[in-house]
Amino acid sequence: MDNVPQLIQERSAPPATLVIFGASGDLTRRKLLPAVESLARHNRLPSEFALVGVARTPMEDEQFASSALTGPSLSDKPQLQGGIRYVSGGYDDPETYKRLAETLDELDAQRGTSGNRLFYLSTPAEAFEPVINGLAGAGLNRAREGSFSRLVIEKPYGRDLTTARELDSVVHGAFDEPQVFRIDHYLGKDTVQNVLALRFANSIFQPIWDRSWVDHVQITVAETLGVGTRGGFYEHAGAMRDIVQNHVLQVLALALMEPPASFGAEGLRNEKAKLLQAIRLPTNRDIADLAVRGQYTRGGTRDELMAGYREEVGVDPLSRTETYAAMRLNVDNWRWAGVPFYVRTGKRLPARVTEVALQFQRPPHLPIPANQLTDLEADALILRIQPNEGISLRFGAKVPGHSFRVRTASMDFSYEQTFAEESPEAYERLLLDALLGDPTLFIRTDEVEQCWRIVDPIIEHWENDHSPIPTYEAASWGPADADRLIGRSGRAWKNSI
Ligand code: BG6
Repeated sequence: MDNVPQLIQERSAPPATLVIFGASGDLTRRKLLPAVESLARHNRLPSEFALVGVARTPMEDEQFASSALTGPSLSDKPQLQGGIRYVSGGYDDPETYKRLAETLDELDAQRGTSGNRLFYLSTPAEAFEPVINGLAGAGLNRAREGSFSRLVIEKPYGRDLTTARELDSVVHGAFDEPQVFRIDHYLGKDTVQNVLALRFANSIFQPIWDRSWVDHVQITVAETLGVGTRGGFYEHAGAMRDIVQNHVLQVLALALMEPPASFGAEGLRNEKAKLLQAIRLPTNRDIADLAVRGQYTRGGTRDELMAGYREEVGVDPLSRTETYAAMRLNVDNWRWAGVPFYVRTGKRLPARVTEVALQFQRPPHLPIPANQLTDLEADALILRIQPNEGISLRFGAKVPGHSFRVRTASMDFSYEQTFAEESPEAYERLLLDALLGDPTLFIRTDEVEQCWRIVDPIIEHWENDHSPIPTYEAASWGPADADRLIGRSGRAWKNSI
């Protein structure tokens, strides 16, 4: 299997200890521990596996273990039983790392974890630097001969290009790039990887995947939820940093990049990086025409009235943070010159939907009178990332009857109806990849920089713009400016989801 890229191999994890920093936090509870459990349940973890939680909150091993082991059938899983520890301590206290190192040595001796360590940073971003320095101070950044020491870092990876580079220099002061796994959980979603399958495991789509056939592309990441309990975090992020800089641009890169020769980690990431490089940078003069933001206000129905963003816990009542962002992007390369790409994301929109929709050009000549085509939309291929995972092809079909009317119809592929197999959760897939040392679905440092390069000028422009932030009612499709952004070219958002 040596020549087969890791991305497409069937695999199980090697002996290792997974160390989660931020072990008492929300992400650990909601995503990471269930992912570990699920890996154990599906026999993807060896019995030489251990889990260590590290956080400031004091907790006993047993308490952490019982919060980690919530699944019904896990009591008999040797991968988890007896192999769960908890180390409490300050992230900037060298004692924490001394105790961690002792715990890791003990686990190596007791459970045969072979000195392999995967350190997962699931803390607030301020803790990244002290943790990395703490690990290096205790020598945990370097593995002994034949073992590995790796670092997984959650987003946000910096707040802009400058701080991302600063973080990179802290990271690279302790870890070499092959040890570093920058996570974007969207890449762990089966349906995001299916963009690769659709484009490169078939021949029928490739000839139409360019400027000769595509009129424009819309990428939507719409959420119905508000910021919930994460107001304090979100105030410093906003939609552009939270979703566009990472998830949206990653999906866009996979959808638009050139075919890689193989799905090897470097081949694939080279193509993504080249695509991101080809995105034209907005200039101060055209930002207002290319980017739109908004913030949700109180709205919904009488039965379900939703608070406005400024009323959420942890949010400044005068906050100017955007909960909605939309942009028009251009890709300056041979394949996509002249094709506009509209991307948008928002919280408290009317539907939860993530999709990539390629809208095709109208036929050059229609041999049918216009009044018989009133219900005909442009052809489109819609990749539904979530929910209702699948693909739809929208096209015109003759309406049965004596007249010749043409109406839009669609062919639908649904994951659920087609496959009996279940999709692993994104975090499950990515944890396994990191344990195996496969970086294919992780973000390389040059990609992070390209993504900040694209969003930075817009964020800066908004920060310097003191006019009132545009608003939209909760459960509506975003601010009116967003309709103007796309409407300027005679197009419209695809909202009939
Ligand atoms: C996270 C963002 O990265 O992605 C959240 O920080 C957002 O604000 C979440 O809600 C969306 O992820 P998913 O997998 O539910 O689409």
